[in-house]
Amino acid sequence: MNSLEFEIREFTEGDAEKTSKMLIAAFEWFHKNDKQSWLYRSFAPRKLIQNSKALDILIASRDSEIIGFISSSNSLFGVAYIPTVAVDPAHQRSGIGKKILNQKLAVLKKQGMRKAWLLVTSINLPAITFYLKEGFVIEGYLRNHTGPGLDEVLFSKFLS
Ligand SMILES: CC(C)(COP(=O)(O)OP(=O)(O)OC[C@H]1O[C@@H](n2cnc3c(N)ncnc32)[C@H](O)[C@@H]1OP(=O)(O)O)[C@@H](O)C(=O)NCCC(=O)NCCS
Repeated sequence: MNSLEFEIREFTEGDAEKTSKMLIAAFEWFHKNDKQSWLYRSFAPRKLIQNSKALDILIASRDSEIIGFISSSNSLFGVAYIPTVAVDPAHQRSGIGKKILNQKLAVLKKQGMRKAWLLVTSINLPAITFYLKEGFVIEGYLRNHTGPGLDEVLFSKFLS
């Protein structure tokens, strides 16, 4: 496999350990290796397995590595929430995020969702650039939301 070849598939419980390590590495900028922080704890393998029962999770895998992740949950009113998108830091900026996001949006559309929304921390300029490039627009701004001094930008996209 060359650096751009990977498979996108559904998360299974057997992926939890490797997925946990990848997510912890991808969000180091947020939790700063504080094992007590809510985000670090939310990526524990046991928690991922528990969350996978309520969320629809796709992962990107390359050989036996997990290099990408996206989760979502649908609503009865046709709007899907995307809690987490992440790409292994070693593989960022090679199109994996774009591919896994667009595959997820295509699945959501097929499932009858007409809109998707998500939150991005206001200091996360790479992600803000990424979502704007993918056609998301800003619909709101939540102050001191995911922690003191941590504002969240609310992005959405209609799946027309
Ligand atoms: C946001 C994230 C998922 C993007 O994934 P990625 O695979 O690196 O993104 P892609 O390679 O598909 O990039 C697509 C476009 O987004 C923009 N982009 C992505 N990363 C960027 C960065 N660090 N700086 C500026 N623009 C960036 C670029 O326009 C890029 O296109 P280009 O490379 O042709 O210029 C990734 O940076 C990540 O996992 N970040 C850590 C976790 C996180 O913060 N997730 C978002 C909040 S849920």
